[in-house]
Amino acid sequence: MMETQLAAVVLAAGQGTRLKSKRPKVLHPLAGRPLAAWPLDCARQLGCAPTVLVTGYGAEQVEAALAATGVDFVRQPEQLGTGHALLCARPVLEDFRGTLLLLCGDVPLLRLETLRRLLQLHRDRQAAVTVLTAELDDPYGYGRIVRVGNQVEGIVEEKDASAEQRRIREINTGIYLFEVPFVFEALTGVGCDNAQGEYYLTDVVAVARRAGRTVCALATGDADEAMGINDRVQLAAAEAIMRRRINTMHLRNGVSILDPETTYIEAGVEIGADTTLLPGTILRGATIIGSDCAIGPHVTIDACRVADRVNIKAGSVLAESDIGPGTDIGPMAHLRPGTRLAGENKIGNFVETKKAEIGFGSKASHLTYLGDCELGSGVNIGCGTITCNYDGVNKHRTVIEDNVFVGSDTQFVAPVRIGRDSLIGAGSTITRDVPPESLALSRAEQKVVEGWVRRRKTKK
Ligand code: UD1
Ligand code: CA
Repeated sequence: MMETQLAAVVLAAGQGTRLKSKRPKVLHPLAGRPLAAWPLDCARQLGCAPTVLVTGYGAEQVEAALAATGVDFVRQPEQLGTGHALLCARPVLEDFRGTLLLLCGDVPLLRLETLRRLLQLHRDRQAAVTVLTAELDDPYGYGRIVRVGNQVEGIVEEKDASAEQRRIREINTGIYLFEVPFVFEALTGVGCDNAQGEYYLTDVVAVARRAGRTVCALATGDADEAMGINDRVQLAAAEAIMRRRINTMHLRNGVSILDPETTYIEAGVEIGADTTLLPGTILRGATIIGSDCAIGPHVTIDACRVADRVNIKAGSVLAESDIGPGTDIGPMAHLRPGTRLAGENKIGNFVETKKAEIGFGSKASHLTYLGDCELGSGVNIGCGTITCNYDGVNKHRTVIEDNVFVGSDTQFVAPVRIGRDSLIGAGSTITRDVPPESLALSRAEQKVVEGWVRRRKTKK
């Protein structure tokens, strides 16, 4: 027998036809994470072991996408109903004795605190089944909670309900705690004689009552938690709710958000206090932002580390980059993967960087491309500088050592190395290495023909 008292099964075999998508429903993203990752995260935080995900439609895709979560997968070859889906997990739970948390892969807004309360009630009452319910103004489509007096006696699906039962506003969220092995024994007796011809997990409630077992129900005060995602309208609504929750959390942590309705922060992003986010800012992936930064408007940052006191101005796009403290970026800068700024840098308007390692205090203020390069500290890159890193077949590196001054409109034809304290004259095409403290200049000498224009005019 296992030591653990709590296991979890997450149902995710359904196709989600109404999403009209090639992608399985539970892989559609909510605040940057697949839908199923949300209930799986609840199970993990409650210490459930094992946690079993029941897959079916698009099983291979779902399992590949969620492999890193470390959960066990079982397949439900045919979607014969929620009761059948749980039975598919039975072999994995053969040795398990204790309480089973049943979650749905498409109910992502459920809160951990609610599950803790559910667990508390279940244990206090020594229940065989405890169901999480919600009061909805419009309960259409959900299973209804049928009570006699205060006691839950059963759950009846919309399609099987009488006109009177359809008026019940307390609905089944599809979230339960069950005692194992009781629930599996109960399920083996459940048939599929109903409007959908499915094996209903909900029938376990009536079986438990007939067997004289305790059935409890906890009503969540927040109907949003019960929201199941069946189509893209609900997905967008859930996204808005999750966005508000995430933004509220950051606001409470000391982040200023000028307009929370137009600021999009994915789950897992970290932001330091006294940072200000302006409208249209999108922070995604494993992004970590320091304190006292100003970001936006309309800035997108994906999987970046941004240190303290960084100012990222309008229209800039950053991905997989590391930004040192006190740096100024944008407006309209494009920092592509592998950009590493040491600190106190300036990357100005229309500057693009890629695999660029840039030392402390170095600046590229305007209209520049820096790719596959390494810059020391105190380097000044003039307007219109280009590292010509690609010869059509291979990429080559440009190295510019400390305190080099690069005049405007310079091209570095890589591979090339510029020694420290050198000066590159404006308009140069640099094809050979430059030793330290040198002047390099490669433009054609200027020709002046005096009076040329005047003579041309008189000729006409
Ligand atoms: C189910 C409940 C209903 C409840 C509602 C809450 C039953 C019979 N009904 O209805 O009382 O109000 O959820 O959202 O349980 N799934 C499988 N295999 C299957 C069928 C479903 O894995 O064979 C999974 C789905 O992927 C989904 C979850 O179970 O994650 C719920 O299935 P769904 O078809 O959406 O159930 P509802 O009809 O909405
Ligand atoms: Ca259904």
